[in-house]
Amino acid sequence: MSQNLLESIRTDIADLPESGIVEIMNYGRSLDRDVIGLWAGEGDLPTPKFICDAAADALHGGDTFYTWQRGVPPLRAAIASYLSNLYGVDISAERPIVTVGGMQAIVATVQMLCGPGDEIIFPAPVWPNIFHAAHITGAIRTPVTFTFGNQGWKLDLDKLFDAVGENTRAIFINSPGNPTGWMATREELIAIRDFARERGLWIIADEVYGRFTYDRDHAPSFFEICEPDEKLIVVNTFSKNWAMTGWRIGWVTVPEALGQVYENLVQYNTSGVAGFLQQGALAAITQGEDFFKNEMLARCKTARDIVIDTLERLPRVRLAPPDGAFYAFFSVDGEENSRDLCLRLLDEVGVGLAPGTAFGPGAEQFVRLCYCTSEAQIRPAMERLAEALA
Ligand SMILES: Cc1ncc(COP(=O)(O)O)c(C=O)c1O
Repeated sequence: MSQNLLESIRTDIADLPESGIVEIMNYGRSLDRDVIGLWAGEGDLPTPKFICDAAADALHGGDTFYTWQRGVPPLRAAIASYLSNLYGVDISAERPIVTVGGMQAIVATVQMLCGPGDEIIFPAPVWPNIFHAAHITGAIRTPVTFTFGNQGWKLDLDKLFDAVGENTRAIFINSPGNPTGWMATREELIAIRDFARERGLWIIADEVYGRFTYDRDHAPSFFEICEPDEKLIVVNTFSKNWAMTGWRIGWVTVPEALGQVYENLVQYNTSGVAGFLQQGALAAITQGEDFFKNEMLARCKTARDIVIDTLERLPRVRLAPPDGAFYAFFSVDGEENSRDLCLRLLDEVGVGLAPGTAFGPGAEQFVRLCYCTSEAQIRPAMERLAEALA
């Protein structure tokens, strides 16, 4: 019976795979032992009190009605001024649109740009959700694999540009990248921008990790090199900087001319983000700088050093120290299947990693470790991993 039901829905939807990360998380949660989960893209810090208070006050104060589809004007203005200050450019308050997490920004953007038969190109390994969001709209997904060598993860721009064909509509660039930690240089962004301009392509820039950098204030951004009215959509989120992954609130920055179209997409997908959540987000973006720098980024810096130091001492491990984001993405000599390795690490030492098999081509032998976590968590996790991977 259930087979018939599955057969009667769209086959491309029935065929959507289970997330390879969630599979491992579910297995880890089912175990009767203490597990240190470094599998998801979030840390162990709850949202700071000043953000929760702002949302709670709004909720108790009656902010419980339908609200602006594009986001409440004060929040949109605050996002515009945050981006303008960060990147030293003038971003108008008409451009940011508040979304249900960075994920909805990706979904709506792909819906807007890539229907059946339209092609989207992206460097891989990549966060799998972009891949599957594009599948849902019927787009053709063309991964271009990074190379991994002594210099770390590198993107061959010629290979990227050669992949573009007559049906290509967009290039998706996630820098700093999940899972690799790759960070595009300003020159690379300029080359991609110039190519996109020449070929009339859209750039979808996923800059959700733009502030998680370890040798500079922020990652090079398309905001710094593009005009306000060109074919550029920038995806961002409150999730990572301000420990708000569970809130499901992010934003996208679009050319002003697309404001109404994007509002329509929000209207017909989710009808917007709860008003009281937006008040929490407003507190985060206007008062959250100290929290981001002194707590969030600081713990990533400490944990990154511990992770790199441990992994570099293990002869079987191959790791390129990540330039940005908060993941270590490494392979282990002799371990061909990362899913099996992740399951075994849970059984043997109770450490939860994400398998490279979940991140598309080019990563089957790698595992991803999220180090956005306290020293108290990361030290025992690394001791256990060192024991298991020695
Ligand atoms: C590369 C990338 N983009 C976008 C997101 C979306 O984040 P959220 O939907 O929590 O805002 C994530 C989350 O892990 C991510 O890794």
